[in-house]
Formats: sequence, C-alpha cells, structure tokens
Amino acid sequence: MKKVIITFIGISIFLVSCTSDKEQPLPVGCTSTIYFAKDVKPIIDAACVGCHFAGAGIGDFAVFSELKAKVDNGSFKNRVFVLKDMPSPSTPLTADELGKLNCWVEQGAPNN
Ligand code: HEC
Repeated sequence: MKKVIITFIGISIFLVSCTSDKEQPLPVGCTSTIYFAKDVKPIIDAACVGCHFAGAGIGDFAVFSELKAKVDNGSFKNRVFVLKDMPSPSTPLTADELGKLNCWVEQGAPNN
C-alpha cells in the first residue's frame, strides 16, 4: 500500500511539473508566437516613430515602456483597431501588420 501511495505521489508531481512548464496557449486566431523585436518593432518604427518620438509629448514609441503603457491603458487597441486613426487612415497598416500587432497585444504585449 505504501508503495502505491508513493508511486501515486510521484506521478502527481510529474504531471504537475509537466503542465506548469507548458507554454501559454496562443490567442484565438493567432497561429504563431509574435515577437516584439522581430515582428512588432519594425512595424512600430516604420509606421509610428515618425510622430511618436522623444519630446513629441505623445509617447516615444522607440522606447518599449512608453509603447507598452499605451497598450496597458487600452489606447493602443482603441486607436489602432477600433478607431483605426493610428497611423493616419491615409497610410494604413496592411492586414498582415495589423494581425501581428493584434496577436502581440493579445499575448500580453511582451518584450520578447
Ligand atoms: C502622422 C503622425 C502620427 C503617426 C504616424 C502615428 N501617430 Fe499616434 N498620435 C499622433 C498624435 C499627434 C497623437 C496625439 C493626438 C491624438 O490623440 O489624436 C497621437 C496619439 C496616439 C495615441 C493615443 C495616446 C494617448 O495617450 O491617448 C496612440 C495609442 C497612438 N497615437 C498610437 C499610434 C500607433 C500605434 C501608431 C503607429 C501604428 C501611430 N500612433 C502613428 C500622431 C501620429
């Protein structure tokens, strides 16, 4: 009986440690992990930093924490996906770029 209990505890610990090592599931509609450095930063640099630079007073998006602050307070989502006025409607992002930004935001906007 002791052996059975010890084996059971062993299996339980094994299972728990396996599940906690598992990666976070991807957000709905996202097929792969989006990386800030590789996928998001080039879009932000090209489409936003021309206006959102240091000293402009509207957030310096070359600085991760300033961009992240707009994601955290909801204004990024609101302007880019709801109002769609950032960047200006005359220079819209492509569907691919919007998809990457959306998946990055839904992943919790990590600095990965
Ligand atoms: C042509 C210049 C220009 C470009 C390009 C631009 N922005 Fe803006 N953005 C502004 C200005 C000016 C404001 C402040 C006035 C306002 O809120 O409309 C602003 C405001 C914002 C705000 C609201 C900030 C707040 O604190 O409420 C967000 C979020 C934002 N922009 C995100 C972006 C993102 C993301 C991009 C690139 C995809 C982008 N912007 C590109 C000029 C620009």
